[in-house]
Amino acid sequence: SVSEADPEQKPPLEAIINLNDFEEAFTKFGTKKANAYISGASNDLLTLNANKSYWQKLWFRPRVMRNVSAINTEMNMLGCKVKMPAYICPMGIAKVAGPEGETALAAGAATAGIIHCTSVTASYGLDEILASAPNNPFFYQLYVDKQRHKSEEILRKLETHKQIKALFITVDLAVVSKREADERIRTQEAGLSVYLAGQQNKVDKKGGGLARTTGSFIDWALSWDDLAWVRKHTKLPIVVKGIQSAVDAKLAMQMGCQGIVVSNHGGRALDNAPATILTLLEMRRDCPEVFDKLEVFIDGGVRRGSDILKAVCLGARGVGVGRPFQCSVMYNKEGVEQCAEILQDELETAMRLCGVTDLENARGDLSYLNT
Ligand code: FNR
Repeated sequence: SVSEADPEQKPPLEAIINLNDFEEAFTKFGTKKANAYISGASNDLLTLNANKSYWQKLWFRPRVMRNVSAINTEMNMLGCKVKMPAYICPMGIAKVAGPEGETALAAGAATAGIIHCTSVTASYGLDEILASAPNNPFFYQLYVDKQRHKSEEILRKLETHKQIKALFITVDLAVVSKREADERIRTQEAGLSVYLAGQQNKVDKKGGGLARTTGSFIDWALSWDDLAWVRKHTKLPIVVKGIQSAVDAKLAMQMGCQGIVVSNHGGRALDNAPATILTLLEMRRDCPEVFDKLEVFIDGGVRRGSDILKAVCLGARGVGVGRPFQCSVMYNKEGVEQCAEILQDELETAMRLCGVTDLENARGDLSYLNT
């Protein structure tokens, strides 16, 4: 049988000092199935690894003697004032990481003064998630359903929830990719049940992992013209999540949405899609006007407070952080809070050492970067 580590043996929260520690603790002490789903990515994991490593290739140009005794990390994101420009990415079925699931993400975000973008594929109901942070704003992420009336119904319901301040439409996953870790677990489990029950092996030979089977409702006929249909059904600001080229960033601007997320789904969509920071740099070169006309966000491999500062200096209004927060759910709400606290502390330290006193003023200021 598949042996599992005992989650009770996980390191105490005091021993977790950076975001990678959360992921590492989860790798060792989370279930194999949850690990395959959360840490997994497409094919050879090239984009997954590039997302992280390319943040590390961008250097600062620090300024000194600037009186950094008082600094301001606040930012305005889609009409919401946040304590720092980082939000929790939309991630499906957070309960696989810990029993509190999305309610821990929502409550932890509220304590930290940041926003949780909740996924349409959440494991808790929307009412419960919102109620766990009743005074905090939220973002909501939608995959457009092949049965459009289902998406329309969700959009109608969102209007009644005043806490939701923006709608993220994910567009980088026309089909769910091949996630092999997920697939292997499934094969193992199926093998086990075949052994136990003597049944026919029903594994999808093309890769029937958890993500692939749950993602088949996503509409692969979605096109730019459909933004008008989204607009017709919501008054919320629309953010297109999954932009991977300057040319599409420009299109998003022309189509009149309010924001974009430069994202490759954390390496879970097209493998060999560029590291997201490379796309952001391409946009600086080919369509710098987008940073003024739209609220630009970026996610994928953000693991340090200094990465937030880099993104903001390039013109982003904020970053999304995914897996470390999902893994922190293993420590319940306290874990999520600590994950955010670490980011806040690292951001403040990076700002002081770089000579940046006000983040909003530093937005788009390339002089802090050695590019
Ligand atoms: C995701 N992501 C995602 N995106 C989305 O738009 N809707 C979703 O339901 C999910 N679900 C999901 C589950 C899990 C377990 C992961 C890890 C990711 C992608 C997510 O929003 C984000 O783009 C990446 O996770 C960012 O990369 P990092 O921070 O995880 O490296």
